[in-house]
Amino acid sequence: MKAKPERTKKSDNSVKEQLALYTSTPQEKKLIDTTSTFSENVSLPIHRWFRYSAGFSALWVRNLISKERANGRYTVIDPFAGSGTVLLEAERCGMLSIGLEAHPFVARIANVKLFWREDGSIFREYALSILEEARRIRGEDNGYPQLIKKCFPSGTLRRLDSLRRAWEEAADESPLSELSWLALTSILRECSPVGTAQWQYVLPKKRKAKSVDPFRAFTEKIYLMTDDMFTRQHEEHGPKAVLSREDARTCDSVPDDWADLLITSPSIYRDINAVWCRITNNEAYQPSIFNYSS
Ligand SMILES: C[S@@+](CC[C@H](N)C(=O)[O-])C[C@H]1O[C@@H](n2cnc3c(N)ncnc32)[C@H](O)[C@@H]1O
Repeated sequence: MKAKPERTKKSDNSVKEQLALYTSTPQEKKLIDTTSTFSENVSLPIHRWFRYSAGFSALWVRNLISKERANGRYTVIDPFAGSGTVLLEAERCGMLSIGLEAHPFVARIANVKLFWREDGSIFREYALSILEEARRIRGEDNGYPQLIKKCFPSGTLRRLDSLRRAWEEAADESPLSELSWLALTSILRECSPVGTAQWQYVLPKKRKAKSVDPFRAFTEKIYLMTDDMFTRQHEEHGPKAVLSREDARTCDSVPDDWADLLITSPSIYRDINAVWCRITNNEAYQPSIFNYSS
C-alpha cells in the first residue's frame, strides 16, 4: 500500500447529518451504558461471528469513532487489530481504516469478518452444500491429538471431521470458502461438552450443561452469518477496511502521515511511539491516540 487514500472533507453539518444515520437501536443504546468488554459484542451483527476475548467493545469503539469523525478525522488505524472490531466500526462510521495483526489465525478471522459485503444468498447455498457433502462423508476420530479427543466425544468428533473434509474438498481461499471456514471454526466451542473459561481456555476435566450437535451448530451459524450480512448491507457503510498480517513494530505497509486517528491497546513495546508518530499526521498524533483498557 503506497498511496495515501483520498479524503473527503465535509462540512460540520454534513458530518452531523451523516452521523445521525448511525443511530443505534434501543438494545444497542442500552448496551452502550453497560460493560466495556468483548462480551457485549456477542449480540452485535458481524462482531458476534467469533468470540475473541481480547477484542474491544464495539460500542465503545463506535462512540469514539463517531465523536472523532465529527471532529474532522477521516482515517483510522489500529496497529493491534485483533479480530477487527475497530475496522468494522470504522466501516460503519464511513471512515477509511487500516488494521495490522501479527497472529495468522487472528488475522484470518478479522479478514473473513470483512467479507460481510459478499452475497449472503450465494454464501448460504455454498455453505449448505458443504453440510450436505459432510452428511455423505464418513468422518474419522483417529489421528487427532489426545487433547482434542478429551474435548469431543467420538460421535461429535466424527461429525466435525466430516465437515472439515467436506470444507477441504471445496476449499479455494475465495471469500465463500473463507466464510465457511469461519463458520466451522467458530462452532468448535459450543460443540464441546467440556468446560470453558474466560478467554480461549478449555477445561477438559469440567463439564458444561449442554453442547450442540455439529451439523445443527453449523446450520445455525450459517443462518446467523447470512442474516447479519443482509442486515449490515442494508445499513450505512463506508469504504472497506484494509487488514494486513504484519508486525506493528515497524508498520511497513502504512504510508507516512496516513492516520488522523489511532486506536489501540496499551503497547507492550518500548520504542513503538516513534513508529506511531510516523504513521499519524503530526496534528493528530497527540490528541488522537486512544488506549483501550477494559
Ligand atoms: C487486545 S487485542 C486487539 C483487539 C482489537 N484492537 C479490536 O479491535 O478488537 C491485541 C492484538 O495485538 C496483536 N499483536 C501483538 N503484538 C503485535 C505486533 N507486534 N504486531 C501486530 N499485532 C500484534 C495480538 O495478536 C492481539 O490480537
